[in-house]
Amino acid sequence: MAATRTFSIIKPDATRRNLTGAVTKMLEEAGLRVVASKRIRMSRQQAEGFYAVHKERPFFEDLVAFMISGPVVVQVLEGEDAVARNRKVMGATNPANADEGTIRKAYAESIEANSVHGSDSEENAATEIAFFFKPDEIVG
Ligand code: CMP
Repeated sequence: MAATRTFSIIKPDATRRNLTGAVTKMLEEAGLRVVASKRIRMSRQQAEGFYAVHKERPFFEDLVAFMISGPVVVQVLEGEDAVARNRKVMGATNPANADEGTIRKAYAESIEANSVHGSDSEENAATEIAFFFKPDEIVG
């Protein structure tokens, strides 16, 4: 199967605890290659736009506040079946349900402060990558 791409965010709870390297190591060990990466402080407008699909959810305001509460690392990951591979190594959204050996089991603090985001489909991966990266910032 050809390599595909997905989009990842190392969230503020993880950057605050200096876990950028530890999280990235788990991504790499799962067979994903970081082909773009930048540490940014998301603006409120960016966070609201990125999570627009959740606008009507009761946790939306808290989610946006959390995502702008500290730096994040946005990444493009490449590998065989990258979306599914990344979701497997991330583990369940709620760390209480995450399997052993996953990033969220190892590091997530709560369903909100769950250390990482990963795209849930190839289509959303393309949209999310384009939200944060220009084509020439991605070097495979
Ligand atoms: P993420 O993959 O970044 O996409 C949406 C985020 O909303 C999700 O991870 C969670 O961190 C966050 N979130 C907060 N509360 C909830 C909830 N009750 N159900 C689902 N997601 C939640």
